Amino acid sequence: MAEDTVKTTTEHQAPSTNKTVQEIAAQIIHQGNGEGEEKFNIPERYIHENGYPSAINFDSDPTWVNSLLVDFSRLSPFSSSSPKTREEELEKLRFALTNWGCFQVMNHGMSSSFLEEFRQVIKQFFALPLEEKQKYARGPNDFDGYGNDSDISSKQTLDWTDRLYLSVYPEKDRKLGYWPQKPQRLREIIDEFCATLRSMFEILLKAMAHSLHLDDDQIFLNEHGIDQDSVHARFNFYPICPSPHQTLGVKPHADGTTMTFLLQDEEVEGLQVLKDGQWYKVPIIPGAIFINAGDLTEIISNGVFKSAVHRVVTNSDKERISLAVFFFPRSDKVVTPIKELVTDDRPQMYQQVTNYTDIFFKHYQLGQRPLDAVRIAQPPSSS
Ligand code: OGA
Ligand code: NI
Repeated sequence: MAEDTVKTTTEHQAPSTNKTVQEIAAQIIHQGNGEGEEKFNIPERYIHENGYPSAINFDSDPTWVNSLLVDFSRLSPFSSSSPKTREEELEKLRFALTNWGCFQVMNHGMSSSFLEEFRQVIKQFFALPLEEKQKYARGPNDFDGYGNDSDISSKQTLDWTDRLYLSVYPEKDRKLGYWPQKPQRLREIIDEFCATLRSMFEILLKAMAHSLHLDDDQIFLNEHGIDQDSVHARFNFYPICPSPHQTLGVKPHADGTTMTFLLQDEEVEGLQVLKDGQWYKVPIIPGAIFINAGDLTEIISNGVFKSAVHRVVTNSDKERISLAVFFFPRSDKVVTPIKELVTDDRPQMYQQVTNYTDIFFKHYQLGQRPLDAVRIAQPPSSS
């Protein structure tokens, strides 16, 4: 989440004068002589000098389906499931968030055909001629708009991706000049998708409180500040990379959000999550939405729930798209770890924070984990 949650201007933000990755890729592929990937002339700014560790494929492991796939329809107290079924699903949610910081959901109420239509519309946008997309080019001192990875620091290795970033909620923050008019359905479908995610988000935050048997089931919603929060959407396009072992689609990061929802490409994998020092590939589960907790959930839950560190790898034969929708508190909201989760065994792990987005980017730019900047104590050894 290089610039997932920044919504207003910061002094670090420079307009991107760079080429899009789509242009760079096209040029390299055109020039490449095909004799091994080192022959391809990947611009230095995109190369991870020391390479990066490979990931374990979970295909033969049932964890993603048995333990990390939540039936969303069972989470709501108004669901038709029996209390026992709901308890089991809440336990799954608790397991996923305490151990992995992420999971996928099915039965969330959005049909596969609706999700497929959305993916097609996203693909159509990125397939438009460059001049058409440039009409929405990110402006100076802005995060909204279309462009490559924001070039914030000369030390930064750039992500092999182009993006369209849009503020969605509150509605008054929408910069409609950046909302593409083509494909025609795009605006409407963003609205529909984000409105559904908003209600899912509320159900989820209540379910999180239930899963920890907290007295007040509104407590995550209140700490997040549900009535005045912000929701931003980032459309990601990962062009083919002729030298995929040298680049990353998105470098390792955790999101500076409370929660992030991700619509993955329906056939091209790329997302990976880190757990106990090991990278795992996230499989594509048809019709499912991937959800990861962000740093603010880790802070609010006093470290009981984990903010998942994740990255995206590139590949040499297929383009990939995804859509990440970020939920985070308003910049002046004071966010505090839940008192009931601060105990003798688990002292307060994080400071109370305001405008975490700012903290996030200051540390992210220096290559540090932003959560460490607000950490008071290490987690208990057995949690
Ligand atoms: C992000 C992100 C993952 C993906 O945009 O923050 O982690 O699969 N995206 O595109
Ligand atoms: Ni992310």
